[in-house]
Amino acid sequence: MTHLPEDFDASVGPGSETRERRPTLRPTSRGKIIGSSGVLRAVLDTVDRVARSACTVLVTGESGTGKELIVSALHDASPRHAGPLVTVNCGAIPEQLLESELFGHARGAFTGAVAARQGRVAAAEGGTLFLDEIGELPLALQVKLLRLLQQREYSPVGDSRTLRCDIRVVAATNRDLEVEVTEGRFREDLYYRLNVIHVHLPPLRERVGDVELLAMHFFRVCADRCGRDDLTGVSPEALGAIKAHEWPGNVRALENAVEHAVLLAVGPELTVNDLPSRVRGVEGREDGRKLLRELPQAGIDLRATVEEYESRLIKQALDRTGWNKNRAAQLLGLNRTTLVEMIKRKRIAS
Ligand SMILES: Nc1ncnc2c1ncn2[C@@H]1O[C@H](COP(=O)(O)OP(=O)(O)O)[C@@H](O)[C@H]1O
Ligand SMILES: [Mg+2]
Repeated sequence: MTHLPEDFDASVGPGSETRERRPTLRPTSRGKIIGSSGVLRAVLDTVDRVARSACTVLVTGESGTGKELIVSALHDASPRHAGPLVTVNCGAIPEQLLESELFGHARGAFTGAVAARQGRVAAAEGGTLFLDEIGELPLALQVKLLRLLQQREYSPVGDSRTLRCDIRVVAATNRDLEVEVTEGRFREDLYYRLNVIHVHLPPLRERVGDVELLAMHFFRVCADRCGRDDLTGVSPEALGAIKAHEWPGNVRALENAVEHAVLLAVGPELTVNDLPSRVRGVEGREDGRKLLRELPQAGIDLRATVEEYESRLIKQALDRTGWNKNRAAQLLGLNRTTLVEMIKRKRIAS
């Protein structure tokens, strides 16, 4: 059986082990992870095994699969849990600012740098630095991150000093870094440095066993949060539709759909009509197959069908990339401008 730190919160672990462990002083993220599928258990096992060491971990998976949640569980289960967990979203910070955000800067390092400032690396001292969307890290900064990983050394912007740090680095991405390496957008040496331990979160459609548990969990949490104590449960048809859906936006989309339904439900049960239309099977997987392969006896409206088909694939590409239009355009073999026009024309919304 997997070795666990002795102060590990095992709210999800098998009962027999739970008793042997001391509870943590504060609730950990591990308790928030719902699911019993084999793949999720394997992920949690890996987290347990590597939590104790300071090794670098790379978490991959489509947008909304729970990467962030896994990273906080990893931090909470590590000996560094009393230290900070500092997140930097490499895709959300403009390239010019990212370096100083990470490493800090000296006074006068650039226009507007009126005082010296510590970066997030320093803020993560004794804890974990979480580099989210690492696939978006510009090449120039990839070199500097490599130095940090190899030597635990860095220099603030405009500062010639070499500073040392004691941090654990964890990175996440929804990109396939091997492809990024092949296409020259990601340094191979950095990829190997990050990929010491690889944790992959499979998309929700590959762990259908978790869908019902998650849906019921979100139902309870949302009903509670929205003060809907009049809601008694989820109807079998609604649950059926939820289970049949492919969930291209993964757990995040499931959470949103259930929240949407809880807010709108007439009650006392949450019914299929309360679910967003795309979940009700209107855009289900069966339709897709029929659209592709067979012309129905009665014929079809070709233009409407193609429109609908296009919309669905565009929506999936957007969901899968967290609405990153550059990436979505790449996935669809379109240029960005064309994609943006299509989104507008088809009124596609998240
Ligand atoms: N297994 C899970 N159990 C409970 N909630 C989950 C699970 N996986 C993801 N979530 C929730 O789904 C949402 C998206 O997860 P997040 O970790 O932000 O995904 P990612 O970083 O991969 O895009 C969050 O609100 C998160 O709490
Ligand atoms: Mg995320």
